[in-house]
Amino acid sequence: MKKGDKINILVLGSGGREHAITHALSMSDITGKLHCAPGNPGMTGLSSAHGVDPCDGAAVRDLCAALDIGLVVVGPEAPLAAGVPDVLRDAGVRVFGPGRAGAVLESSKAFAKKFMRRHGVPTADFDICATPDECRAAISRRTPPYVVKADGLAAGKGVFLLDDESAALRMCEDLIVRKKLGEAGASLVIEDFVPGLELTVFAITDGKSYLILPPSRDHKRAYDGDRGPNTGGMGAYSPVSIPSGVMEMAEKAALIPTLNGLRNDGIDYRGVIYMGLMVTENASGGHGISVIEYNVRFGDPETQAVLPLFGGDLARTLLSCAEGRIESRAKAESQGAALCVVLASGGYPGEFRRGLPISGVGPDGVESPDFPGSFVYHAGTAAGKDGGYVTAGGRVLTVVGIGDTFKEARGRAYSRISSISFEDMHYRKDIGWSEE
Ligand code: AMP
Ligand code: GLY
Repeated sequence: MKKGDKINILVLGSGGREHAITHALSMSDITGKLHCAPGNPGMTGLSSAHGVDPCDGAAVRDLCAALDIGLVVVGPEAPLAAGVPDVLRDAGVRVFGPGRAGAVLESSKAFAKKFMRRHGVPTADFDICATPDECRAAISRRTPPYVVKADGLAAGKGVFLLDDESAALRMCEDLIVRKKLGEAGASLVIEDFVPGLELTVFAITDGKSYLILPPSRDHKRAYDGDRGPNTGGMGAYSPVSIPSGVMEMAEKAALIPTLNGLRNDGIDYRGVIYMGLMVTENASGGHGISVIEYNVRFGDPETQAVLPLFGGDLARTLLSCAEGRIESRAKAESQGAALCVVLASGGYPGEFRRGLPISGVGPDGVESPDFPGSFVYHAGTAAGKDGGYVTAGGRVLTVVGIGDTFKEARGRAYSRISSISFEDMHYRKDIGWSEE
């Protein structure tokens, strides 16, 4: 690219994560026109939306040709698992996001566990079971709580922690025999429970070099105090205070063997690797890590807290990744702190109402002069009457606060939230409790 050149960028997806990515890309001097498919009403303030199915490789390829797209950034897992990047790369389009072969690290938990075992990545001991008898044997070898995971993609609803043996067995039968999650539960991972504190680590990699972003922590349970059902994520913050040596362990014991494993398996991986880690503590107070899961894309809502801290130029970084020429720097420059809170529809992750008018969020975009150091990203919203917005999903908005310190970031996030409302709005008041 020559100095002054710009490229048009297409973002695939429609959540808070994609709005945050689009916002960060809009600040780059190499970004020409920004487009999204399908996008959300917040993203259209920064980019042009196209009603194309992001999982339809041929349709996305044709859209790229029509719009002269120089880089596609894939937000969610579904287009990755569907092999959309493979179709685009075959057509000569640069893509941030792994092809189908790499996406299996997320789309099959059984594959991911076998990959970790094969390549020496620390993870809980496990069995892969396809019949109730195999499940019974795997459960009898373990102690409660029992961890049962559907092999396939289940939109964050495929992991079950069960306190007694009969409940665990019933869950296995619900999945394998009664097909509670369809084909996603045809095969199960049953693994040891790992106690500890969770940590999300993103590494942007072209398969050879990598850039580690500041660690973040998601809050998956619906209610304060980490109670209630699991959700897609109710809030996150970054960076996280962690015992010394943990990030080095994440890099040396988990990330590097993962990248070596991908290369040995012949997988050309260009995108982000999300490592969901458990930070464990042994009897003598030492710490260890265990990889709970891989995702092959940025996390939602962790991205909304991590990208505001990224000191680099996101468009340049993602382009260099897509072109396989990331500059070798282990850690991304970052400063300050960020915290985000998801504003959800009452009832989420169960049943909830849609179409409720949202007050306090105007068409003027992400930032507000009344609330410096805060951003609002859309997820489940739709255009309402009179230029306003209505609710249209479970996770409706993500509100981010940034600051020099964790406390300042948290104060700014919750202060902006106090200006936003819709009927039945639900959010967690304790995001970042483990930093107290
Ligand atoms: P996953 O979708 O694999 O990240 O699992 C969802 C959540 O279940 C994780 O964020 C953890 O809180 C929990 N979890 C999954 N596997 C384990 C495990 N082996 N030990 C303890 N907690 C787990
Ligand atoms: N925040 C969890 C996820 O993106 O899977």
